[in-house]
Amino acid sequence: MSTGFHALTISQVRRETADAVSLCFTVPDALKPLFAFKPGQHLTLRADLDGQDVRRNYSICAAPQEGELRVAIKRVTGGLFSGFANAGLIAGAVMEVMPPHGAFTWTFDPAHAGHYVGFAGGSGITPVLSLLKTALLTEPNSRFTLLYGNRDTSSIIFLEELAALKDRFMGRLSILHFLEDEEEEVELFNGRLDAAKCADLLDRVIPVADVTAFFICGPGPMMDAVEKSLLDRGVAREKVLLERFTIDRPDAAQVAATAARAAEAAGAKVTLVLDGRRRSITFDPALGNILENARAAGLPAPYACKAGVCATCRGKLVSGKVEMGANYGLTQAEVDAGYILTCQSVPVGSDVVVDYDG
Ligand code: FES
Repeated sequence: MSTGFHALTISQVRRETADAVSLCFTVPDALKPLFAFKPGQHLTLRADLDGQDVRRNYSICAAPQEGELRVAIKRVTGGLFSGFANAGLIAGAVMEVMPPHGAFTWTFDPAHAGHYVGFAGGSGITPVLSLLKTALLTEPNSRFTLLYGNRDTSSIIFLEELAALKDRFMGRLSILHFLEDEEEEVELFNGRLDAAKCADLLDRVIPVADVTAFFICGPGPMMDAVEKSLLDRGVAREKVLLERFTIDRPDAAQVAATAARAAEAAGAKVTLVLDGRRRSITFDPALGNILENARAAGLPAPYACKAGVCATCRGKLVSGKVEMGANYGLTQAEVDAGYILTCQSVPVGSDVVVDYDG
């Protein structure tokens, strides 16, 4: 992944619901290879707002076959970037965009006939929609079941697009809506996608053993409930893919543990490779982690959430050891391959080499 931002023009701002818009970007021919994406991946967007360098990750909602680069942004209470995007953006504006990245994806194969299931809550539909469309467009003999939770009908993002997809892929796409504030005739579809509801659905509606992969994105408690229900039913972990947008703030004990880890690493030598250049720094525990040390040394190391969720700060540990705090952003395969989240890592010992280009 290139670590840099590129200035892209917004070709369309489309209102999806009262508090969500989607943005489509024009990608110049020269940048098309760099901005080619896998379904389910996201973009890091950057803007200067109120004098701050604000970065956020937003999932792509298109399938690669659709030929457009589009993300959806839901306004969150007090959200600087999401408020700006929902109120102040118009077509023709230019935005700083990092090339697509993220591991919430799947390799679809035209020869495969499978059944995919998506659990989405609110704006969690965005990457799931990308995967859903890609599955149905790529694998003519596969089907997809979407279970989609929202507050009420007016808050359903992509309601019309989903209805059109259902017509287009008749017999291959099933969509079940769950609304918290509206009464449905069938009791199963009323209320939140909580643990009890998930268990009920997996026992009565979804033939768990026949499912090729589950894609889960939405509020944390919903994701935890679905994940636990699936693992309790013996579904293999590699078939359960999760994409978290947010996590709870670390508690006091976690903050203290992080500070203690950083203190032990005081003075350690860390070598960083970024955009082909190599640079050695001395770890300063006051800065907390490798990412902040890199940036304080003037290296434009990439980041967005700084909370262990988005994996924008991912680097490959080429030698030495690190201790990593929260990790919601890397898959087990990436961890096994030596990748670390630099916003969560401190060196252990002195021969640490981290390659951001790796
Ligand atoms: S910046 Fe998001 S995981 Fe490190």
